[in-house]
Amino acid sequence: MGRKGTGKTTLARDLVTRTKRTLILDTLGRDYGGGCVVRDPAALAEYYARVRHCADFTIIARPTGDALPTAFFQLCTKAEGVWVVVEECDRYCGPSQIEPSLYWILNYGRQFGISIMGCARRAASVNRTWTANCDWIVAHQTQEPRDLQYLTNFMDTTGLEKLAPFQWRRWGTSGIF
Ligand SMILES: Nc1ncnc2c1ncn2[C@@H]1O[C@H](COP(=O)(O)OP(=O)(O)OP(=O)(O)O)[C@@H](O)[C@H]1O
Ligand SMILES: [Mg+2]
Repeated sequence: MGRKGTGKTTLARDLVTRTKRTLILDTLGRDYGGGCVVRDPAALAEYYARVRHCADFTIIARPTGDALPTAFFQLCTKAEGVWVVVEECDRYCGPSQIEPSLYWILNYGRQFGISIMGCARRAASVNRTWTANCDWIVAHQTQEPRDLQYLTNFMDTTGLEKLAPFQWRRWGTSGIF
């Protein structure tokens, strides 16, 4: 989470260089490369059927309407042992609504080895089911009072005001995995 241009997609892209069996919903259609690009539900189903037993694959779904995101989440509910990445995830859920299949993944995906990560600008714009179940929240620069309030509810912010301003680590590594 974090405001525009603070490195959410950059971090997610870095993480997926180390994941296997990866399904990416590239909402804006311009953030990810290095995988098989699909643009409609039929192509998604057809390619997934071909690779579903492979140890490694990357599928990048680039939607042009609502049909592909819906098919993407439905397919993920039937997958096992996959990493799912959802760019601009607040496009598919909000404080009071969520795609039914996305809701299922967030609640029960763990049982089937489904891990999901999402990028969104505003903490308060993501459905609570997501934030309530997540192992990990990375908060980049956030300034909107309701988002800050929401984040402080489940992060230890002691001493935060004493931290030096964040500097890009141009040549660093994320060191998360
Ligand atoms: N750790 C980093 N070191 C150097 N540059 C970075 C780092 N993280 C991000 N950037 C640069 O900052 C710019 C914005 O990053 P990115 O697209 O990841 O932001 P974002 O949070 O996904 O933004 P948006 O909300 O608009 O999608 C990019 O040009 C990227 O190369
Ligand atoms: Mg981004």
